[in-house]
Amino acid sequence: MKRRWFLASTAAVALATVGLTTACGGGGQSAGGDGAAGGDQAGGGVLTMATSADYPPYEFVETAGGAEEIVGFDVDIARHIAEELGYELEITNIDFNGLIPALQAGRADFVMAGMTPTEERKQNVDFSEIYYDAKQTIVFQSGGGIASPEDLSGKTVGVQLGSIQEELANELVETVPNVKLSPLNRINEIVQELKSGRIDAAIIEDTVAEGFLANNPDLEAVEIPEEGSAGSAIAFPKDSELVSEFDRVLAEMESSGMMEELIVKWFGDRAE
Ligand code: ARG
Repeated sequence: MKRRWFLASTAAVALATVGLTTACGGGGQSAGGDGAAGGDQAGGGVLTMATSADYPPYEFVETAGGAEEIVGFDVDIARHIAEELGYELEITNIDFNGLIPALQAGRADFVMAGMTPTEERKQNVDFSEIYYDAKQTIVFQSGGGIASPEDLSGKTVGVQLGSIQEELANELVETVPNVKLSPLNRINEIVQELKSGRIDAAIIEDTVAEGFLANNPDLEAVEIPEEGSAGSAIAFPKDSELVSEFDRVLAEMESSGMMEELIVKWFGDRAE
C-alpha cells in the first residue's frame, strides 16, 4: 500500500513542478458568497479549499488515468467534512506562501495543507483543532555527514517559503555559524536542488521526507532532536463560523475511528 502512494507521488511531484492548477479546483474564485462561509445553511453551498499540493501524503497531484486530481490525507478529511456539512468541495492549488493571503482575500473558505497553527499565523487566521502531528528532519545527499543541526555550518539549506521550516531555519542561522538559506516555493523544487547539489540540505517534516527518500535512495535524513512536534490544523478566515462545525466533525472522526483509518491509509506504518 505504501509503495503505491510513493509511485503516485513521484508523478504528482513531477507535475506539481510545472505549477499545475488543479483539475477539480475552481480557478481560485471565491466561495465566500452563496452562504458558504456562513456555514449554517447546509446543502447546496460550495466550499473552496486552498492547498499547496506538493506535500505527499497530505496533498499531491495524482495523474492516474490521464486526469489530474489532487488527493491525499488532507483531501480525504476535507471531502468527508464537506459531505457531513452538506457542501460541495472545490480545491484550488497554490504556493504554500500564498495560502493565508488567499484566506484573507476571501478567495478560499479554508486551507488544508499540513499547516501548523503557529502564534504568528493565529494573528491572521483562525484554526481548527490539531488533527495530526509531525516532526522536523534535515534531508541531505547520502554521505553528506550531517548528524545534527550544528553540522549545517557552512552549508546552504533549502526550506519552503512561508513554512515553519523556514522559521526554524531562521532560528538556526542565529546559533549555527555561516548557514545560508535558500527559500523555495515548492517542496519538489527543494528536492531537485538537493539532488543536483545546488543546496546541501533541506528541512522537511518527517512523514513527507520519508516519501521523498523512498523515491530517492541518494538522499538521507536525520531528525532534529530538540524540535517539538508540529501539528497540522485547518485554517479559516478570522471569525469564520465554519471553525466550530469543522471541529465538531473532526471530533466525530476521531471517536468513530475514521481518522485512524485515514492515518493508516496515507501514512502506513508511520501511523501511531
Ligand atoms: N507544517 C509546515 C508549516 O505549517 C509545512 C507545511 C507545508 N505544506 C505544504 N502543503 N507544502 O509551515
